[in-house]
Amino acid sequence: MSLEEKINKIKEEVKNFSLISNDDLEKFRMKFIVKKSEMMELFNQLKDLAIEERKEAGRILNEAKKAIEDKYLTHQETLSNQSVDYTLKEDITLPPFYTNKGSRHPISILKNKIVEIFTSIGFIIEEGPEIEDDWHNFSALNFALNHPARDMQDTFFINMEDQLALRTHTSSVQIRTMQTQKPPIRILAPGRVYRNEAVSARANCFFHQIEGLYIDENVSFADLKQTLFYFVKKMYGEAVEVRFRPSYFPFTEPSAEMDISCTICKGKGCTICKHTGWLEILGCGMVHPNVLKNCGIDPEKYSGFAFGMGLERQSMLLNEVNDLRTFFENDTRFLKQF
Ligand code: DAH
Repeated sequence: MSLEEKINKIKEEVKNFSLISNDDLEKFRMKFIVKKSEMMELFNQLKDLAIEERKEAGRILNEAKKAIEDKYLTHQETLSNQSVDYTLKEDITLPPFYTNKGSRHPISILKNKIVEIFTSIGFIIEEGPEIEDDWHNFSALNFALNHPARDMQDTFFINMEDQLALRTHTSSVQIRTMQTQKPPIRILAPGRVYRNEAVSARANCFFHQIEGLYIDENVSFADLKQTLFYFVKKMYGEAVEVRFRPSYFPFTEPSAEMDISCTICKGKGCTICKHTGWLEILGCGMVHPNVLKNCGIDPEKYSGFAFGMGLERQSMLLNEVNDLRTFFENDTRFLKQF
């Protein structure tokens, strides 16, 4: 095939090459424009021709090259200007598919709030196992061997031989922390606890607690009070009033229970506060020297305070929920309100 014939063949191909998409455009470029393309290779063949022929062939080749580039550029411009079809294919007036949107559980919301308040003043979060041994749950916390709380009526035992049980309170995390950390200790331990109680509107066989523990040199009852005052004001607002009542827990001495003025009637007296104007929200006290000793901390050098609160009761008060069981039924009609 002579050079001229080859050029004519390519011209024909160029003419028939349809350029509809960007893809076509690229194929076209590869076939006719890039250095290694069939078309451009023809320029190399010029040197084999006699001078007079070369002149004429060069002219035809350049003409063809120009035509190819023109076709490429014109179509490139057209394609880039081509408008996208934005007309809607679907009927947008149809109702959407229903999707169930999740929400946080009210107990988690309350827990997160309390955690935020205490972590902002330097407490760190600790956790412990829900299956606990007798020593961490009772003995190390200074419970006498015959203390009624150990009774099978209160505790879910898992294995009597090793005295393994579901923890009855988060106070066991105090022990685990003091065994592994040196003072100063400032921890908050949220978690689930279990008790063998008849399920009712006011009690369940498992619920949630948050435990606090602060151990350092010279920690006093004033520190305990001020820390809890701070917590209550942040949690329930500046107007809320607080009172401490003497109480008894084996692991604290002295011990107290803390009440806040009723959030419902503002202290005037209603059925929620049983007409006392006060609501009990937590137990607390100065860590008993025996507990410190049991964990290898010198009670002559260190002292500390602890507190423990239930979450369900507080959530019931805050959200005016009148049946504790609703927290555990996973009824989305209840849960999506929070
Ligand atoms: N563990 C106690 C309970 O479950 C609550 C409690 C009271 C925890 C006093 C404490 C405390 O840390 O100091 O009823």
